[in-house]
Amino acid sequence: MAVSMAARRRPAAAAPDTLAPGEPLIQVRDLTKTFGTKTVVDKLSMTIEPGMLYGFLGPNGSGKTTAIRMMCGLVPPTSGEGRFMGYDIVRQAARIKPLLGYMTQHFSLYTDLTVRENLEFTCRLYGIRNIRQRIDELIQQFAFADGRDRQIVGTLSGGWKQRLALACAMSHKPRVLLLDEPTAGVDPKAREAFWDILQDIAASGVSVLVSTHYMDEAMRSNRIAYVLYGRLLVDDAPEQVLAKSDLVAAQVELKERVSPERERRLAHDERLVRFSRQGNSYRIVARSPSDVAGWVQRLGAPAGEVRPIDVGLEDIFFHLTLQQQITSF
Ligand SMILES: Nc1ncnc2c1ncn2[C@@H]1O[C@H](COP(=O)(O)OP(=O)(O)O)[C@@H](O)[C@H]1O
Ligand SMILES: [Mg+2]
Repeated sequence: MAVSMAARRRPAAAAPDTLAPGEPLIQVRDLTKTFGTKTVVDKLSMTIEPGMLYGFLGPNGSGKTTAIRMMCGLVPPTSGEGRFMGYDIVRQAARIKPLLGYMTQHFSLYTDLTVRENLEFTCRLYGIRNIRQRIDELIQQFAFADGRDRQIVGTLSGGWKQRLALACAMSHKPRVLLLDEPTAGVDPKAREAFWDILQDIAASGVSVLVSTHYMDEAMRSNRIAYVLYGRLLVDDAPEQVLAKSDLVAAQVELKERVSPERERRLAHDERLVRFSRQGNSYRIVARSPSDVAGWVQRLGAPAGEVRPIDVGLEDIFFHLTLQQQITSF
């Protein structure tokens, strides 16, 4: 593979450890980004500790990508401030770049090259020393051994391509890994395997900022950030988000079917958090236990068993979105 000598001679991207003991890896305050008259990130303040696996959630266009990129000095904020391993995210952005591994939403690999050649190419770009050793380490760490390293990338499944893109992003041993919806469209088994690796990476001390739409992935994060219309509405451990919620969910079996007209009205009633038919029963998410009883009555059909069930993260985000929509009208 043709790689210029200049790239070969470039020194390894040094990773200066400027972090004082106890200092957070990233700390930002009141980060705001406007495009024209539109505020896409509004006064975002966050602290990210080393080794943290942070899941970013929120509807499309909420500002997740912009927020993550600003925190790492890749996009200058309109206002606000922050530090990344002690470096100012605006004035010292160039110092931050070598400390980052970034897998964009539309990552690109050389599909006509092998796995090993792709890794070699990325390692040379980063000017990594002892390239052979590093490639072998990456092949082991990301389970490309047993001949897969010699496979042409175009012939790999989506999940394995994803894994290779991650290996490339990790080639220079970054301190922070940015992953923008890395598992969108990947099958559940491959997503699970991908998150096993992310958890290992975080456990090794690398902070991982990952945006996702999948709730099972959110549950596997150490902390989740829920961003809605540019505002950070939740910043907590997933278990805490669930524990702090007042929502109540129930599965309601009915002896007769509810009329389609009533079903439609209930589904659109904003006083009810969620309402959906599941086979012969309904799933109701309400704001209190007495609320559940009221809604069961309003179904207008004789109810059978009413069984309490767990509230999920999605229910909570649904509720927050609903509240935001109601208050902004
Ligand atoms: N360079 C840009 N110029 C103008 N608008 C932008 C730019 N980048 C992002 N936006 C807008 O900012 C909003 C937030 O985008 P983004 O951060 O990509 O959200 P998310 O990642 O949550 O989908 C969107 O409305 C998007 O169109
Ligand atoms: Mg995005």
